[in-house]
Formats: sequence, C-alpha cells, structure tokens
Amino acid sequence: MISRADTQRGVLDAVDRAVNTEPTAEGVLRRAVELLHDRFDHYSWVGVYLVEGDELVLGPWKGPQATEHVRIPVGQGICGAAAASGVTEVVDDVNADDRYLACFASTRSEIVVPIHSRGRIIGEIDIDSDRPAAFDAEDRAFLEHVARMVSSRCNG
Ligand code: SME
Repeated sequence: MISRADTQRGVLDAVDRAVNTEPTAEGVLRRAVELLHDRFDHYSWVGVYLVEGDELVLGPWKGPQATEHVRIPVGQGICGAAAASGVTEVVDDVNADDRYLACFASTRSEIVVPIHSRGRIIGEIDIDSDRPAAFDAEDRAFLEHVARMVSSRCNG
C-alpha cells in the first residue's frame, strides 16, 4: 500500500524531472497538471490559470469536462481572490461560498494555489474535488511546493 506521502514524493520527483527536461514552460505545466490529476483520486479536475493583465486565462487542464470559465477577472471567484491576494484559498464547501463561480455540478470543495515568480503572481493551480472538504494542510503544503517548482520555469 503506497501512502499519500509516498505518492506526493513521487509526484515532486516527476515534476522536478519535467522542470529540468521539458523544452517549454507550457510543457512543464501540462505535465504537472497531468501528474496531479492522475495520481490523486480526490483531485477531480486540475487546471492552471495564467495571469494576463487583469485576467486569469486557462492554460493546461485535465478532468472529465471542460470549464466555461476560460477567462476570469482577477478579483472574481475563488480563483480571482487567490490571484488578488497571493494566498492559497481552501474552500471546504463551495456551495456555502458566495465568491464561488460554478463550473461542474459535482464539485464540492476547491483549492487554489498561487504561483509566484520574482515577487509577482503569474498564475495559479486550481483543483476541484467531488468530495466535501477534500483538501487538508498536507495538500496545501504539497501543492505550494509544486507551485514553487513550476514557477522556476515560468518567468511571466
Ligand atoms: N470555481 C472557480 C472557477 C474555476 S473552475 O473551478 C474550473 C472559482 O470560483 O473561481
């Protein structure tokens, strides 16, 4: 039985390899999204948004369905709140949060982790879960680690 900590270590190693071998930043982000989606059952939909001016623009994503929210103004939704503050947002019950922009009927909880580079917020990792309160302090620390790793290739 592989523990969650082992799975997290495996993903960090694989992201590190991607950071060092993928030819483009887009490739690094695509690989990170794929690893996060495929290795954790409670990460139902995984996407990266990139900051362009006052908007977040959807980059690589993986999940059962496309989202209609391909552009989100900074400041709107849970994604926009994290981009505005630069602080990770964890929402245990999306239906109880007025800021929530609904994407999928099955989503119960969400985490949004900003990606910082050279003192700026250049993007974020957004994960929706079909489980209520799916994201704990370990998920947060792990995803913040992933965000720091990929940021080294995203100079915005
Ligand atoms: N729920 C997000 C919008 C993006 S979708 O989850 C993919 C929000 O409230 O900002």
